[in-house]
Amino acid sequence: MKAGKSTIILFPFIIFFLIIQKNVFSQSVKTIEERVDSVLSLMTQTEKIGQLVQFSGGWDTGAQSTKPKTGSEELIAQGKIGSFLNIIGAETTKELQQIAIEKSRMKIPLIFGLDVIHGFRTTFPVPLAEASSWDPALVKKSARMQAIEASASGIHWTFNPMVDIARDPRWGRIVEGSGEDPFLGSAMAAARVKGYQGSDLSANNTIAACLKHFAGYGGAEGGRDYNTVDFSERTFRDVYLKPFKAGVDAGAATLMASFNEIGGVPSSSNQQLLTKILRDEWKFDGFVVSDWNSIGELIPHGVAKDLKQAGELALNAGLDMDMEASAYTKHLSELIAEGKVSMLTVDESVRRILRIKFRLGLFDDPYKYCDTDREKKTILTKEMREASLETAQKSIVLLKNENELLPIAKGEKKIAVIGPLGNSTIDPLGPWNQQGDAKQVVSVLQGIKNKLGINAEILFEEGCSIKGNEKDRFAKAVETANQADIVVLVLGESLDMSGEARSRATLDLPGVQEELAKEIHKTGKPIVAVIMNGRPLTITWLDEHVSSILETWFLGIEAGSAIADVLFGDVNPSGKLPVTFPRFVGQVPMYYNHKNSGRPYNPKDNYTSYYSDYSNSPLYPFGYGLSYAKFIYSNLKLSSKNISKIEPLKISVEVKNDGLYNGEEVVQLYIRDLVGSVTRPVKELKGFHKIFLTKGETKNVEFVLTEEDLKFYNLNMNFVSEPGMFKVFVGTNSAECLEDEFELMD
Ligand code: GLC
Repeated sequence: MKAGKSTIILFPFIIFFLIIQKNVFSQSVKTIEERVDSVLSLMTQTEKIGQLVQFSGGWDTGAQSTKPKTGSEELIAQGKIGSFLNIIGAETTKELQQIAIEKSRMKIPLIFGLDVIHGFRTTFPVPLAEASSWDPALVKKSARMQAIEASASGIHWTFNPMVDIARDPRWGRIVEGSGEDPFLGSAMAAARVKGYQGSDLSANNTIAACLKHFAGYGGAEGGRDYNTVDFSERTFRDVYLKPFKAGVDAGAATLMASFNEIGGVPSSSNQQLLTKILRDEWKFDGFVVSDWNSIGELIPHGVAKDLKQAGELALNAGLDMDMEASAYTKHLSELIAEGKVSMLTVDESVRRILRIKFRLGLFDDPYKYCDTDREKKTILTKEMREASLETAQKSIVLLKNENELLPIAKGEKKIAVIGPLGNSTIDPLGPWNQQGDAKQVVSVLQGIKNKLGINAEILFEEGCSIKGNEKDRFAKAVETANQADIVVLVLGESLDMSGEARSRATLDLPGVQEELAKEIHKTGKPIVAVIMNGRPLTITWLDEHVSSILETWFLGIEAGSAIADVLFGDVNPSGKLPVTFPRFVGQVPMYYNHKNSGRPYNPKDNYTSYYSDYSNSPLYPFGYGLSYAKFIYSNLKLSSKNISKIEPLKISVEVKNDGLYNGEEVVQLYIRDLVGSVTRPVKELKGFHKIFLTKGETKNVEFVLTEEDLKFYNLNMNFVSEPGMFKVFVGTNSAECLEDEFELMD
């Protein structure tokens, strides 16, 4: 064929393109940055904008659907979409990836994201439950298993860990995080990032993590989801940002911007947050995705007059990928043409996204998450169940055990399981259970039956519903209780009472459950209350009237097995509360690391900070949890009465298991900075060790405190330590500690 004039002119460019393309997709180019630059240099403006666009599929396109919205295939082929969420399955994701690789001009792989919050098909305990284990290694393993399962089904990226500090249990999303403390929250954030991402993000069984919701989302006024957040920069940095920084330092690949404003500036258009802090200070080089339509919500926030302006504000602030708002896909071209967004800004966002796609290995093998055989072999395996069970066992918190009613001797008692959650297989899945299947769940009743065998006499009555007001089944429940030697009363919330858009104005047991408990209590039978919930509840009456209480949160697929293991003593409960339980919702917000105020509560002085109509103390304090063993603390020792910037402080304490059971104890270390250039919390968690002690065993537990551990944002907002006196506390929870003091020298 005779080469036309145009071919001759274009020929060198075609050669150049082919050389570059070969280099880009071959491993010969040395670094990811070079490969990113090469791809970027070949992309059109439309293709660059496409990388900043994420759309949903799956449930957004119909129940149990795994498909994308109509028309998505064309957009993929045109390079106008870079990512999907809520599309699952090795086969489905492969089909869509093939369009990107085989039909689009640039062949840039798609990245598939999903809310793998506490499991994919095998449901693990909700994050607040896992935080109750105070076992970062266990939580890391849980995230690892979740990543292995989800990656086998085509998922590259999870929108987790949620690391929002939550001090208000009315907020439904407290269930998704690790509670009220920045130190524990930071440990859990890092553990989950490392669990999801593993040691090699390019492996086909590791997935990108996403720290969310950046930031301050848990500080919503009134505990009402999506509500206004307004606190000082000092509180923001000393408390709410800490777990995000820990997650970034652990290597998190992405973050998700939150819905809320902070002091007038919504996170999704917050340059101070998304660029100054995240990029300039923390040197984060991954990318930020918006929350669902959070760019579009800049309009109701009242900072953008329309979607175009919302897109301009968001991209210029540093928000790289638009989830579902269509702001970038609809308006970026105009904004670039009008000079309101520069190509430099667009290129930087595209670069960050390409960087993570390269780190995931998607350019080298776009189909490595699409192996249907691996998918079949990996889902809901025995190993997955065992990992979920182990996590559940260690997430249970024993709140009360009067007269050692627990553990129940097997076979000696006729047991009545009573309550609306006693045989539930849907609620133990908890909110955000993703692909959890109630048919796979072991209920409390089933767990007890499995434990005691077919000859055991186990009775069951629901007694009432979770939320309803009907009492017509109370009599039957009382009759059933009267036939038994002991009652296991399973009460709490339904799985849809916590999670997103699930704030509550009360913290009471829903419906008529407490009235049912009172009727059962009248029988005089010993009662063990098992609580299933997504937030602290004001179970004050139960605490005053029933012998034993287990806090079990939502423990996932093996909930009933884990609870039965603890009820009958095969597992000694070792959980500790990651969040304070108030006695009354009017006490909220109530958290242990509060300030002292100028008039701290003094029962002998009327003119101090308290409530005249209710106790001023929590029902259960942060870090609280009992054991079947008895742990005695003694011999708190400090290596010195003072430390300096170079000389750390060694702290040791003896812990003895003086009980009849082997068990684990979480030894907690707190400090108090007595005088600072600004007010300081009355306690701050600065260390914890989960130790195992056989009965009668004593261990010496050591901590090391450095000057770095004592830093905070001072009067001038510098992150420094200040010389002076400190108290140090070591104990079994934030309220029961041995204490001493030391001085930080100048
Ligand atoms: C939701 C949640 C966020 C989740 C996202 C995608 O609105 O706020 O946590 O990751 O949308 O499902």
